[in-house]
Amino acid sequence: MIILQTEQLTKQFGKLIAVNHVDISVQRGEIFGLLGPNGAGKTTMLKMFTTLLSPSFGTVKISGFDIVKQPNKVRQIIGYVPQMLSADGTLTGYENLLIFAKIYDLPAKTREKRIWELLELMNLKDSANFLVRTYSGGMIRRLEIAQSLLHQPHILFLDEPTVGLDPIARQTVWDRIIHLSKEYDLTIILTTHYMEEAENLCTHLAIMHLGKVVAQGTQKELKKSAGDPDMSMDKVFSHYAGAEIEIGGNIHGLREISETRQTARRLG
Ligand SMILES: Nc1ncnc2c1ncn2[C@@H]1O[C@H](COP(=O)(O)OP(=O)(O)OP(=O)(O)O)[C@@H](O)[C@H]1O
Ligand SMILES: [Mg+2]
Repeated sequence: MIILQTEQLTKQFGKLIAVNHVDISVQRGEIFGLLGPNGAGKTTMLKMFTTLLSPSFGTVKISGFDIVKQPNKVRQIIGYVPQMLSADGTLTGYENLLIFAKIYDLPAKTREKRIWELLELMNLKDSANFLVRTYSGGMIRRLEIAQSLLHQPHILFLDEPTVGLDPIARQTVWDRIIHLSKEYDLTIILTTHYMEEAENLCTHLAIMHLGKVVAQGTQKELKKSAGDPDMSMDKVFSHYAGAEIEIGGNIHGLREISETRQTARRLG
């Protein structure tokens, strides 16, 4: 069953076409990754999916609801963890969740139960009453995921869920994402510029380059269509995203710069 479908989705900022006539479809239950370097248009796509930006052209339907014509219906069934920090460091984990529960208008009767369920689900129960500024990067990300799930969405959008995290913290976030996908019938759409994340986490991928989706499918399908079933995902990526990315350096250099920048911004 298709849960998200775009047709010719386009977003233009002045002369720049940040998202360029994109057609993708996501089936229920997938962990779908938008993989692309900095500036590829990943966040812009997610902002349209989550009704924060309206398309310049084209359509997006989520569970059959049109994001422009039925934004409120869409908001009720989606959760979103933005690229930038969305938890308050001066409050405890529990207090952050309580604020979101009130924003989502969860009934006072069930609020407490739901908050503690999510703290447990994200392995944060023991740290619930500590200030978030004492949390590690992985704990903050897990708290932000808990915040986005309070209203029981069917589909969860994660923008760069593990950027700037060390390998162990990254693993704790991946582990929870996989758990949510398997046990809670949640469809997950995430952006990443980590090849490792795409390989280990995503059941399906769309490779983005300069606003366009240049290939999509399972890893197996992508390797096959790139001409070699044994190809590494790095090779698949450069096959589709073209030589431009590699000119004058390499993707890893770009990744590192962006990571440092984003970590600095996130944890202040
Ligand atoms: N509000 C805006 N106004 C003008 N240009 C924008 C705006 N938002 C994004 N852009 C531009 O659109 C392009 C795509 O940006 P976007 O943030 O979607 O990329 P991204 O793939 O998420 O990159 P990153 O990996 O750095 O997060 C970039 O060139 C960016 O500078
Ligand atoms: Mg982005």
